[in-house]
Amino acid sequence: YQPVKIAPSILSADFMRLAADIAVIEEGGANFVHIDVMDGHFVPNLTMGVPLLKQLAPATDLVCDVHLMIDNPLVQIPWFIDAGADLVNVHVEALADGELQRAVAMVHEAGCLAAAALKPKTPVAALAPVIADLDMALVMSVEPGFSGQSYIVGTEARVAEAAAMARAAGNEAMLIQVDGGIGPATAPLVAAAGADVLVCGNAVFKAEDPAAAIAEVRAAADK
Ligand code: DX5
Ligand code: ZN
Repeated sequence: YQPVKIAPSILSADFMRLAADIAVIEEGGANFVHIDVMDGHFVPNLTMGVPLLKQLAPATDLVCDVHLMIDNPLVQIPWFIDAGADLVNVHVEALADGELQRAVAMVHEAGCLAAAALKPKTPVAALAPVIADLDMALVMSVEPGFSGQSYIVGTEARVAEAAAMARAAGNEAMLIQVDGGIGPATAPLVAAAGADVLVCGNAVFKAEDPAAAIAEVRAAADK
């Protein structure tokens, strides 16, 4: 048995005090630091990228989990790896036939962990070409683009589907991450369905005490 891993998303952090916010989650027992990269094309919003990761990665011991919500991820994957990503999360919708396999192979060849992400309306079956090789699958529980949205009810079923698919492919070690609207109320639903890693933006960084919020989400997931 493993307690769920918590991946606070710095999109909800105070950018003017980013180093302090990262220290707080690190001391508060977070496992990953989730970095939401948005390009204004794949999703409407524009957030952060390689220059930020270059400074952030050497300054933390947390797993740098880079969630790429960008068009043409094959171009930028090597840049994020050079900048210090530990885990590269690519959206299946951003990649044409055959490119998803190339992306996962590129990440693995660099010695990093590879994840594939699904928007809420994308069939879980889209993971099929890489399911046997993935370190993690990301099941989005909001439409990607913004923090602070509400969890889409029913995502639990998609988590269970991804877990079953990985088992059927013999990939028992594949983690499942859920991202969007996760907090103490929604964590138990997705954890029960098989989620291993919970991304929390507002639930952690907009809390009075982010360390306590991490503990609260983890405890709720354990019920
Ligand atoms: C949404 C991002 C999420 C988001 C999470 O596109 O991928 O990581 O920032 O924020 P909350 O937890 O506030 O929904
Ligand atoms: Zn994210």
